[in-house]
This record gives sequence, structure tokens and C-alpha cells, in this order.
Amino acid sequence: MAEAEFDRAKAKTFTQLMVRHLEGAAVSIMIEVGRRVGLFEAMATLGAVTSAEVAEKTGLSERYVREWLAAMVCGGIVEYAATERTYRLPREHAAGLTGASSRNLTGMAEMFPLMNRVIPDVAEAFRTGRGVPYSAYQPDFTGLMDRRSRPRYDELLFSAYLAKPEGLVPRLDAGIRVADVGCGTGYCIAQMARRFPKSTFVGYDISSEGIREARAAAHGLANASFVVQDITRLETPAPFELITAFDAIHDQADPAGVLRRVCAALSPGGTFLMLDVWASSELADNVGVPMAPYLYTMSTMHCMSVSLAGGGPGLGTAWGHQVATRMLHEAGFTDVKLFERVDPANSLYVARRAEAS
Ligand SMILES: C[S@@+](CC[C@H](N)C(=O)[O-])C[C@H]1O[C@@H](n2cnc3c(N)ncnc32)[C@H](O)[C@@H]1O
Repeated sequence: MAEAEFDRAKAKTFTQLMVRHLEGAAVSIMIEVGRRVGLFEAMATLGAVTSAEVAEKTGLSERYVREWLAAMVCGGIVEYAATERTYRLPREHAAGLTGASSRNLTGMAEMFPLMNRVIPDVAEAFRTGRGVPYSAYQPDFTGLMDRRSRPRYDELLFSAYLAKPEGLVPRLDAGIRVADVGCGTGYCIAQMARRFPKSTFVGYDISSEGIREARAAAHGLANASFVVQDITRLETPAPFELITAFDAIHDQADPAGVLRRVCAALSPGGTFLMLDVWASSELADNVGVPMAPYLYTMSTMHCMSVSLAGGGPGLGTAWGHQVATRMLHEAGFTDVKLFERVDPANSLYVARRAEAS
């Protein structure tokens, strides 16, 4: 009876889907290997070439290069001319695989080795529900995040993110007090401090590795400082006119507490600028959205797990617009504006602390 109900066409379609998932995972591994050894950058400068020519140009082993090229050809990344036995990386493909801009998507695959490394910890957390601490991802995580975010900040920090709140840039020009919570390696602080010399900037992060790098990178900037600080316990001597959080709220152990602290640390009428992942809080809305499986995977393998490890709610990477907006209101912000997709992956929330009455 059960056999009669088995839908063979559906099973076949599903097998095909599984095959595509497995192919994608396999190609991602090879993308990361190719990125590490500089094969994409090299291929982008060579026209149609044999594997021997690629090996000679890169100083890599021809046998490894040939096997990697085969995976790239079958994965649709490199083109192959069978008669000449030559390989070519089309310019249109190279644009998404090389260079320092955010169009280079290989940084997304760079996350996978770290996520693979913590599979045993995450599997154990499924049994205990206790999460995986931030420390399990170090020392790699800080540098990975930095490399992944930096091109986006170079391209969009001033033109898209800081430009959204009306009148903010003139106030930064005139000189205000600014904090960045969860600042990582402090790249945004350093960029802002250079651009707005009359404003003063403080970066807070719980990671001493991140703050060490931040201090080194901001060397010589008199208006930038960095503090190793758990922002759930943020105490500020004087209020800030602007607080920013770039991709730093959804994985907090106490996100509601952090938002309350941020609101309290602002001067009346002060602005909170929160860049966070574009998503709906409703799973059904995210089905079929490109990269949604990546979001839920990164959430399970990192963002949700680090929050749970700290005794937090584990909001997850796809906590979404509805939950984020509600939490900002609950934290005491009076005016919350959402700018969806200010870049391909993120939305921007601009929230204000009420003016003093
Ligand atoms: C996803 S990273 C984003 C880093 C940086 N803003 C960027 O965009 O590259 C989140 C950062 O929040 C920091 N963080 C997490 N919990 C924190 C806490 N309770 N207090 C301070 N920093 C925290 C982490 O160490 C990490 O550097």
C-alpha cells in the first residue's frame, strides 16, 4: 500500500536536487582551494591555456592544477576546448571570482573550512542545546569577517549606510561623539575617523584579538580609540550622538539588553545605525530567496550557536525585519526606519532615542 503511494517522479526530482546540492558543496571546496593558491587571479590574466601553462605561470603542481581545472570545468566556472586541451576563465566569471571588490564571491566560500571545523561542536550542541562559544571560532573568525566585510565598507559605508539618516553626514563633519559596538577589527571606525576628523570615535568589542588589530590599523588617528568591552555591560562616561552596529546584534547573547544599553548610551535625539542581515522573520517568506540556505547554515554553524552558548535566545542570522524592528521599539527607540537591501545582503535600521521632553 505504502509502495503504491510512493511518487517516483517526486523522488527523481528530489534526487536531482540532492545531486545539485552535493555538486555545489564540492565545487565550493575547490573554489576555496583555488582562491588560496591564487588560481583564479592567475587564470584571469591568461587567455586560453593548457594545464601545463597554468602550472608554469603559478608555480603549482601540474597534476593538481589539472584536477582542479577539471572540477572547475564540470562546475561551469572554467571553459574547456577539448581539441586544444585548453582552459579559459571568461572575463564575466573572473569578475565574480577575483579582485578586491565585493563582487568577488569567493570570500563566502572562505567561511566553509571554519564551519566544517566546528561541525563536531555544533553536532554536540544539537544534543545538549548549549551552543558553541565564540572562542571555538578563534583565531580565524575575526580575520575572516574582516576580509569579507571590508570591500563592502570601502564601497558603501559613506555612500549608502551613513548617507541614509537625514543630516547625519553634516553632523559628523561638524564633530560628534560616535561609538561602534561589536567593531571587530575596527575598520569602520578607522574609515570614519579619517573622513570626519572633528568627530571622536570609540570601538567596542569583546574580542581582544579584534581590538589588538583595530589599534594597530588606526595607529596615528588621534580621534579613534578601542576598548575590549562586553557591550551587554556598556557604561559610558558621556553619551554618544551616534552609535553604529555593523552585523553585530543578531548573534548577541543578550540582544535585547544590548539594544537597551545602546539606547541608554545615546544622547536625547541620538541615532542608532544598525546594519544587519536582510531577511524576513517568517521562514515562508525566505523560501526561494537566493542565499537563504546559506543564511540558515551560517546561523546554525555560528550566529545562533554563539548566542545560545552565552545563555542567549539564539535569534539566528535570519531574525528578520519584523523581530528586529519590534526589539528596537521594545529597547526604547521611538522612531525606527528600515531601509531594505542597502547592499545585496543587508538592511539598515535607523533608530532614534527620543528627544528630552
Ligand atoms: C559578525 S562580527 C562583525 C564585526 C564587524 N562589525 C564587521 O562588520 O566586520 C560581530 C562582532 O561582535 C563582537 N561581539 C559579540 N558579542 C559581543 C559582546 N557581548 N560585546 C562586544 N562585542 C561582541 C564579536 O567579537 C565580533 O567582532
